[in-house]
Amino acid sequence: MKILNFVFLLLPFIILSQDIKITESIERGRLLYEDFCVRCHMPDGKGQKGIIPPIAKSDFLFNHMEESIKALKFGGIDGEIIVNGVKYNSRMEKMGLYDDEIADIMNYTLNTWGNKYDKIIDEKYVKSLKK
Ligand code: HEC
Repeated sequence: MKILNFVFLLLPFIILSQDIKITESIERGRLLYEDFCVRCHMPDGKGQKGIIPPIAKSDFLFNHMEESIKALKFGGIDGEIIVNGVKYNSRMEKMGLYDDEIADIMNYTLNTWGNKYDKIIDEKYVKSLKK
């Protein structure tokens, strides 16, 4: 019984520390976004229609999450993609980001401009992605 009480006492702190973790990751991601992404995807995440796809409310991003993160890690996506009904055939460059930076940028992107995602992307996951 005692152990159970202990677990219940601890639970709010575990949840709180998760909240702090995601908030800090999003803040680091915001700064990285301004350095690396804003010039193409724009401050509102809407991109430039027909040239640079939107990442704000992008159907592609949420339906092809792994492919999108790989595009950041390895530099672009081969061939044409359709984002929110519009074709894009330009290529995202490789930016030389570290895996933890990609995780932070993704947590920012997935929780900004009306985007919402309930999981945290971490460095371990980004590291595990192969070409
Ligand atoms: C030089 C311009 C450029 C920069 C800088 C850039 N992107 Fe992209 N991004 C593109 C293009 C072009 C595509 C379309 C995919 C392709 O063909 O490579 C794309 C695709 C994407 C996608 C998947 C498609 C979608 O719209 O959902 C995501 C997510 C994304 N970029 C996020 C980012 C993030 C985050 C950064 C900053 C770390 C960034 N991009 C920097 C040009 C850029």
